[in-house]
Amino acid sequence: MSDSDMNAHADRLTGTSLRALAEAGEARSQALILRAAGLELDATKQRLDQGALSALFDFAHARGLECKRDALLSGEIVNATEGRPALHMAYRHGGHLADSDAAGLVARTQAQTRAFAERVRSGEFAPSGVAIERVVNIGIGGSDLGPRLVADALADHADGGPELRFVASLDPSDLKHAIAGANPAAILFIVASKSFSTQETLMSGEAAREWLAGHVGADRAGAHFAAASAAPDKAEAFGIDPALVFDFPDWVGGRYSVWSAVGLALEIGLGPDVFQAFRDGARAMDEHFATAPLERNMPVLKGLIDVWNRVGLGYPARCVAAYSARLGKLADYFQQLEMESLGKSVTVDGKPGPTPGGALVWGGNGTEIQHSFFQWLHQGGDIVPVDFIGIRRHFASPDPRERALAANMAAQGAALLDGRQVDPASEPELAAHKSMPGGRPSATLLMDDLAPATLGALIALHEHKVFVESVLYEINPFDQWGVELGKVLTKGILDGDISGYDASTKALLARTGLTAD
Ligand code: F6P
Repeated sequence: MSDSDMNAHADRLTGTSLRALAEAGEARSQALILRAAGLELDATKQRLDQGALSALFDFAHARGLECKRDALLSGEIVNATEGRPALHMAYRHGGHLADSDAAGLVARTQAQTRAFAERVRSGEFAPSGVAIERVVNIGIGGSDLGPRLVADALADHADGGPELRFVASLDPSDLKHAIAGANPAAILFIVASKSFSTQETLMSGEAAREWLAGHVGADRAGAHFAAASAAPDKAEAFGIDPALVFDFPDWVGGRYSVWSAVGLALEIGLGPDVFQAFRDGARAMDEHFATAPLERNMPVLKGLIDVWNRVGLGYPARCVAAYSARLGKLADYFQQLEMESLGKSVTVDGKPGPTPGGALVWGGNGTEIQHSFFQWLHQGGDIVPVDFIGIRRHFASPDPRERALAANMAAQGAALLDGRQVDPASEPELAAHKSMPGGRPSATLLMDDLAPATLGALIALHEHKVFVESVLYEINPFDQWGVELGKVLTKGILDGDISGYDASTKALLARTGLTAD
């Protein structure tokens, strides 16, 4: 499918009623409803017919999606600008990896984190003579969002492990809140940082150590620290006991790192078996992605739909609405995964991109967001497709609140699809205000239940669908050069070296009197 093909299909379908499309028959529904790894994707509310769909699959074939997927999964260098493979899947596959060096490394670090997690959970690891009651993960971006999402989502599976807290912000109140009420002798800090050079993480880590030294003594404080990093030498230089530095290779991207030692807090808090079940669910999705024909492949279908909405129909954003209080961090997690991966308009070859890259991703929890920004989705001037993420079990739950939650989710999809036309004859003053255009696409993703394996599959689905999009956009989804400049400029400000800065920033700094420590 060339851009003009995509435009032709989009022009043809833009005027079509979404309801008519949704009622187009069994063959369309079969093509747009897929099941894999405990998940069901229902894309029947998308502005797509079989003509456009098969053109999208032709496009994927023409872009060499299958070869590129195989290159990714077999550990070829797919991150060209950093000269690395992207082998985070290795952490879900243990010894099944083709590359024996990678397999050995993964097996070694998985054995180490499991053994340490068991020591902490059993109380054997007690650096100040008492068992660890609270684990505080200090990290940001991929070293925070994954562990935070999974800790929240699987909190019901924790089974007596230490409490998990998270510090990401440089605002001192974040650390203050994470340690409030804790017994300093029973706390473990995990400094999670792939680079071990991230300012926020290192400054918070130092502040945590200072606080702890004031309670358990400077000589003992260090024993309450572990690290997860791809730069173990830097973690050791920071003062962390080498035996408690859990490393991972640089071919695990930050936003793909929850499966690696970055998941250490989860392995401790939820237990190694729950953490393994989470990885196993991702592995089931990996196997599906690797083997299912493109037309029956869930990450491929989802990726193509998101490309279609972004490029074909020109929708700039996508909303993620999770109908589970436990999935409150899902939209944040997907936001980093997708926007750091696809927020680029330069091709792999360094040319201006043929597309503007991936969509803006944002969202929150249903039903709360129905009472905040859904008004905008229903009647605002922009069309933003919504991904509804729900729990299949809720639909037939004996608890009426769970059934109501599911009903709300289904109702929102129906309302966006159909809208409502109020007859001006019956309500002359308010008909225009009460009418809703409808024709707004959505997808429904059902998890059989909110279990470790289905959560793993859900995350892996999104990792792979991001990869599919990147192939169609012709961009490298594994680098993130766009975040570098701000870091350099922050350093300049703190070093007092701002001669090359713009007049507005200089004036701001002069007015406010920021100085380095
Ligand atoms: O600034 C963005 C980023 O580089 C992310 O890609 C990464 O997840 C985050 O910072 C944290 O990096 P690190 O794990 O190296 O501290």
